Amino acid sequence: MKIVKTIAEVRAQVKEWRAQGLTVGLVPTMGYLHEGHASLIDASHRDNDRTVVSDFVNPMQFSPSEDLESYPRDIQHDAELVEAHGGDLIFHPEPEEMYHKGFSSFVDMSVLTEELCGISRPIHFRGVCTVVSKLFNIVQPDRAYFGKKDAQQLAVIRHMVDDLNMNLEIIGCPIIREDDGLAKSSRNTYLNDAERKAALVLSQAVTIGTELVRNGETDCNVILNQMKQHIQSEPLAKIDYVKMVDAETMQQIPVLDRPALCAMAVYIGKTRLIDNFFTEDI
Ligand code: PAJ
Repeated sequence: MKIVKTIAEVRAQVKEWRAQGLTVGLVPTMGYLHEGHASLIDASHRDNDRTVVSDFVNPMQFSPSEDLESYPRDIQHDAELVEAHGGDLIFHPEPEEMYHKGFSSFVDMSVLTEELCGISRPIHFRGVCTVVSKLFNIVQPDRAYFGKKDAQQLAVIRHMVDDLNMNLEIIGCPIIREDDGLAKSSRNTYLNDAERKAALVLSQAVTIGTELVRNGETDCNVILNQMKQHIQSEPLAKIDYVKMVDAETMQQIPVLDRPALCAMAVYIGKTRLIDNFFTEDI
């Protein structure tokens, strides 16, 4: 397993693999890897001959008021995890390698990015689409792996690949959770003990929602109200949104008459956490 910092080194390595007729999977990450990321590396290792993991805290997807500076980083730990899960190459560039002086091209998307997290994070998906496009161009993988934990991101990437005729397959992977249900996230490290307990309202709300859907409830307001009530019972929790949207277009729906995504963002203290379920996975 190798760690490289330049685009030229990634290209040279991938070229060598291609010359041997090998397939390549890409797992884009911002590092501080946990079992959620590991599950994507496992999936890529299963499907492809070689796996590249990008490990880059992308400044472009953070607004000035967000946690770019404090975002946790530990490349040594990441290297061990990638190696243990069969990854072959880590691409760990400095910001200057990805965004040279005078950088001025962006991949922007309307509609899908204007709902859910796009409302409180208006520049976020432009940063995600731009960096992910760059990573696709640098690595030129056969497949790229994304977690359903970031459900809107997955839908946005699928849409971008379709709109811009990018020549690769996007694989969505299930949410990996702690034993008590909390979705694994690099940002969980921000939580103190009381907040860590309070954060369980997100996964508990997911359970409430999935049970209602499983029992045949189709009125989205009924489902969302019960979920919201539960979250609001926790004093440390403040809802950003809890919504039911069309799983492809991310537009809100009143009735479950098509594949849907139920997504939420909730502040626990100062930490903004997300969780969700797709009705198709129930
Ligand atoms: P990051 O938050 O590091 O996540 C990298 C990938 O891991 C994403 O596809 C995310 O959905 C997945 N992931 C995170 N937690 C997970 C969990 N508990 N279960 C399953 N998958 C999980 O998402 C990003 O980075 C960035 O926006 C990126 C795509 C790398 C662009 O900068």
